[in-house]
Amino acid sequence: MQPVLDYLTQNQSRFIDELCQYVRFPSVSAQPQHKRDLQNCAEWLLKHCQQIGLDARLCPTAGNPVVLARTPRRSRRNGPLAHARGSVRPHFLVYGHYDVQPPEPFELWKTPPFEPRIEGRSLFARGASDNKGQNLAHFKAVEAYLRTGTELPCDITFVIEGEEEVGSKNLAPFLRQNKAELRCDTIVISDTGMPTPRHPALTYALRGITAFEIILHGPARDLHSGIFGGTVDNPAMALSQLLAKLRDKNGRVAIPGFYDEVRPLSGYERKQFARLPITSREFRKMLGVPKLFGERGFTPHERRSARPTIEINGLTSGYQGEGSKTIVPAWARAKLTFRLVPDQDPARINKLIVRHLKRLCPPTVRMEIKSGHGAEAYLVSPTGPEMQAGLRALKKAFGFEPVLMREGGSIPIVNDFKHILKADALLLGLALPDDNAHSPNEKFNLDCFAKGQLMSAWLWQELSSMKRET
Ligand code: BES
Ligand code: ZN
Repeated sequence: MQPVLDYLTQNQSRFIDELCQYVRFPSVSAQPQHKRDLQNCAEWLLKHCQQIGLDARLCPTAGNPVVLARTPRRSRRNGPLAHARGSVRPHFLVYGHYDVQPPEPFELWKTPPFEPRIEGRSLFARGASDNKGQNLAHFKAVEAYLRTGTELPCDITFVIEGEEEVGSKNLAPFLRQNKAELRCDTIVISDTGMPTPRHPALTYALRGITAFEIILHGPARDLHSGIFGGTVDNPAMALSQLLAKLRDKNGRVAIPGFYDEVRPLSGYERKQFARLPITSREFRKMLGVPKLFGERGFTPHERRSARPTIEINGLTSGYQGEGSKTIVPAWARAKLTFRLVPDQDPARINKLIVRHLKRLCPPTVRMEIKSGHGAEAYLVSPTGPEMQAGLRALKKAFGFEPVLMREGGSIPIVNDFKHILKADALLLGLALPDDNAHSPNEKFNLDCFAKGQLMSAWLWQELSSMKRET
């Protein structure tokens, strides 16, 4: 391992340059005008894979291409296909995404989102942490093996997609089409967080999600609010009243049946959560709110990772420019997402929500509902051998005892990995809570980048030497 570790140490500054190149692509999957940038980003990544010695290709999908890259497979002639321990040589898949969230609002960025800036040990750019920096860490570890001629104890396939931030809807068909090639023992993903630089983390649960857009249509055009106001309903007002009914005063989602399948938290889990190293006070300060809010009876960590929620992600209506304009707007629109937990079924929840919204809509406006992406929550036992291997790799790389946690974000494809490839995900996140994922001034900590590479380098050893069933 020493040559691999030395290689990583010696090449950090080049790796940082490469990460800067990677984050320069405005690969914003939600915005159609960036289609070409996504393609260019995928092509850059393809070239990078080829340069470090991977067999790589771009796989077109109905949306953005998937970058598929494999460590060179040993041929039958050159070596036994069987693993040293008598079982089959293990195969692991690294999943990540090269698409990013929209950078808006631009004016809140200290420097432009796609012009990387390094300040101290932070690299600022949209996508630096979520997820380009995190997936590049794995590439660098594998590069270290390939470039130093150190034999990898396993086969590795990278699947880096360009639609994670919009729900990964074209990836499941891709997995089905390439099922044989992608058959693997475990999926390795670094796209989650860790509580502090001294607390590397293994995540064993993610929330699911279901997304909607609601549009209330009122008059045929914006109207003079003096001439007509008072005779027609105001769509912005009607929408506000409707939205306000979706959450009760205890912070619970006020949709009948919404909690029916929610699996309660065990006392053991709640005890473990309470040990995580962040206090409510620190949390409040980091988020810049006067007081925390959330479902009554649960701690902030429980609320953000293990309880379902409703959020308004965007709210638009009427005049948004400077000064005033006295109108009754023709329409009002809200973008909503609900985070889901085990065992809520997104399809069932979706129906409950639509039914309730229709009931709440007053007859004075016309409601249009668009259903968006959806994903089930993910939960895996943290006691399996792969998890233990992950914990050992984290400890070796970071030098601190890792923590086990649940995360509130969603990675829609993890359940498809489970159903289609029959493989669990090992979630080894490198993002810090103040990385500003999805916010202005996103950053990635360069120590997390370097330690993430070490973690990946150790991981292949730990995963491959674990006792496996033949
Ligand atoms: N990296 C995140 C998911 C994440 C973040 C998991 C933090 C755990 C902790 C991922 O890129 C993401 O943002 N996913 C979206 C998915 C959605 C758009 C379907 C999310 O969670 O909002
Ligand atoms: Zn994200």
